[in-house]
Amino acid sequence: MLAAYAARLDADDPLSALELGERPDPEPRESWTTVTVRAASLNHHDVWSLRGVGLAAERLPMILGCDAAGVDENGDEVVVHAVISDPDWLGDETLDPRRSLLSERHPGTLAEKVAVPRHNLVPKPAELSFEEAACLPTAWLTADRMLFTRAGVAPGATVLVQGAGGGVATALVGLASAAGVRVWVTSRSEEKRARVLELGADGAFEPGARLPERVDAVMETVGKATWGHSLRALKPGGTLVVSGATSGADPPADLARVFFLQLSVVGSTMGTRDELQRLARLCAEKGVRPLIQQALPLAQARSGFEAMLAGELFGKIVIIP
Ligand SMILES: NC(=O)c1ccc[n+]([C@@H]2O[C@H](COP(=O)([O-])OP(=O)(O)OC[C@H]3O[C@@H](n4cnc5c(N)ncnc54)[C@H](OP(=O)(O)O)[C@@H]3O)[C@@H](O)[C@H]2O)c1
Repeated sequence: MLAAYAARLDADDPLSALELGERPDPEPRESWTTVTVRAASLNHHDVWSLRGVGLAAERLPMILGCDAAGVDENGDEVVVHAVISDPDWLGDETLDPRRSLLSERHPGTLAEKVAVPRHNLVPKPAELSFEEAACLPTAWLTADRMLFTRAGVAPGATVLVQGAGGGVATALVGLASAAGVRVWVTSRSEEKRARVLELGADGAFEPGARLPERVDAVMETVGKATWGHSLRALKPGGTLVVSGATSGADPPADLARVFFLQLSVVGSTMGTRDELQRLARLCAEKGVRPLIQQALPLAQARSGFEAMLAGELFGKIVIIP
């Protein structure tokens, strides 16, 4: 089958490690099932994998991709939950120390077929297209857990989202605004600042800008470049939720601000299968839809990776096998 895979690892030139070509079909496994992928979507995770972050050299070649929506062996339309926990693990899968994401230990979704534990399938709501559903399992699920589970934001609260254009950031704007949360966003790009207002944000600012007032919570995926601003933007007692560090993971800690203002710094990673099912229902019933920048045939996946690496995204890149 055709697949996009990491043939090598290259920390400095990740695209040189990406190949498109034939890979074997998934092997049948006890309590696993094979999904025919109708749409997949790219995440920054795929770039990290090509750089060798989270993907070990002995697992190469590895089919990339965490997200898919497709049709299972019974002919049912499904969304794939990307967190593969240990078969004996009970409870929140994101807390299993032995968990992995599809494409870290098991072949990923940028292929015609993907094998997953049967338990990882969630029904695809008929209201969502395969392309929309394929955006949910990583970026949208991460955004959902950051906002509602980890920050516990309430309607009427004000949230700052750093870095407007990314998959997680556009999901945060869509979800926060649907939940009645006032959402402010920063972006390096004037064009993205204008577009995020059309998406439902209530304010868009340059990185580091002084805000009209301090916020209840900040959603961080940018990391080093925006961390200081995130801490300065919070009200006393506010919460900074961090799930990524695209620009670097070693920012100055500013501990005095954290303890004097009693700030909470909270980590967040992916989400559970149950949260994914709830998110899919929310999207179906409340009309919230992932913003898709572009849908590309699998054979042209490289150009999607190039856009992501260049920071040119506004929304999600969907890949059609
Ligand atoms: N922990 C988890 O479970 C989890 C899940 C999903 C994602 N993540 C991580 O979260 C991050 C974002 O993921 P994504 O898929 O949304 O990535 P993405 O689509 O590539 O988004 C990158 C965003 O970061 C901003 N950005 C990048 N470099 C920047 C810099 N030097 N300075 C300021 N802003 C910068 C861009 O904002 P502007 O261009 O608008 O300024 C853009 O919005 C990645 O690091 C990813 O690995 C983690």
